Amino acid sequence: MLLTGAGGQLGRALAEEFAADDVVALTHGDWDVTMPPPPDLAPPDLVLHAAAWTDVDGAEKREALAAAVNVRGTRNVVELGAPVVYYSTDYVFDGSKREPYVESDEPNPLSAYGRTKLGGEREVREGWIVRSSWLFGATGKNFLRTMLALGREREEVSVVDDQLGSPTYVAHLAAATRELLELPQGIWHVAAEGECTWFEFAAAIFEEAGLDCRVVPITSAELARPAPRPAYSVLRSEHQGAPVLPHWREGLRACLERLI
Ligand SMILES: NC(=O)c1ccc[n+]([C@@H]2O[C@H](COP(=O)([O-])OP(=O)(O)OC[C@H]3O[C@@H](n4cnc5c(N)ncnc54)[C@H](OP(=O)(O)O)[C@@H]3O)[C@@H](O)[C@H]2O)c1
Repeated sequence: MLLTGAGGQLGRALAEEFAADDVVALTHGDWDVTMPPPPDLAPPDLVLHAAAWTDVDGAEKREALAAAVNVRGTRNVVELGAPVVYYSTDYVFDGSKREPYVESDEPNPLSAYGRTKLGGEREVREGWIVRSSWLFGATGKNFLRTMLALGREREEVSVVDDQLGSPTYVAHLAAATRELLELPQGIWHVAAEGECTWFEFAAAIFEEAGLDCRVVPITSAELARPAPRPAYSVLRSEHQGAPVLPHWREGLRACLERLI
């Protein structure tokens, strides 16, 4: 088994989940997926492809670079000839629905990042396209770690309250990946149970971590980030036997236990 993006937050969780298996875990430094694979790489039986350009705002001005990683990089991975687990995102949807997005819903990305991730999906010939949302873990750059740092420094933070999604703990997604390998190939929506806004998630983080920091709700328009985000991007599976993840608050508690 080959793992790409092994240094990322999901990559690390996958490396842990599959530690007892025969996994070759390659970080960005080991293989830049925009380049041909390392010459000494043995042909894998399966690729867990967790490498990606994940800077959502940065992709707006540098879509070609994001596409080089997310589309061409995925093509290079697919060309290894093995089935691929490709991790995709709720940001392939435009957020106009008010009930959970299922696999048969038509993608319509609002952002350059979403377009490149959808482009990557379309490169996959054989394997599993795993769409998940709002990932957080004990390592790397994510909303949970940002809020913990801000919550220790400040008395108040402003957080958007008009985007609804399902924050998903990477260890839960990694465990669900193992389940998916026993299920038919295709597109699968795999995200935490429950839904919340970023504002509600921040308030829960401070509550669970025992931090005394006020959360002020603001709108996405007030925050004015370069990349538009879907207002609603809760994912659920319409497939029989799809993995069911724990509620996002359980994921939050499990992650905090590791961090604190
Ligand atoms: N984060 C989310 O909220 C979220 C939500 C839904 C889906 N996803 C998807 O889940 C997957 C994992 O995301 P994540 O949250 O674990 O992101 P992450 O922590 O940013 O990890 C991505 C990894 O890919 C590496 N990488 C970037 N460019 C590369 C290249 N050209 N060649 C090889 N490696 C490269 C990065 O290395 P460097 O850091 O050294 O550049 C990093 O280690 C991605 O496919 C992402 O699109 C993420």
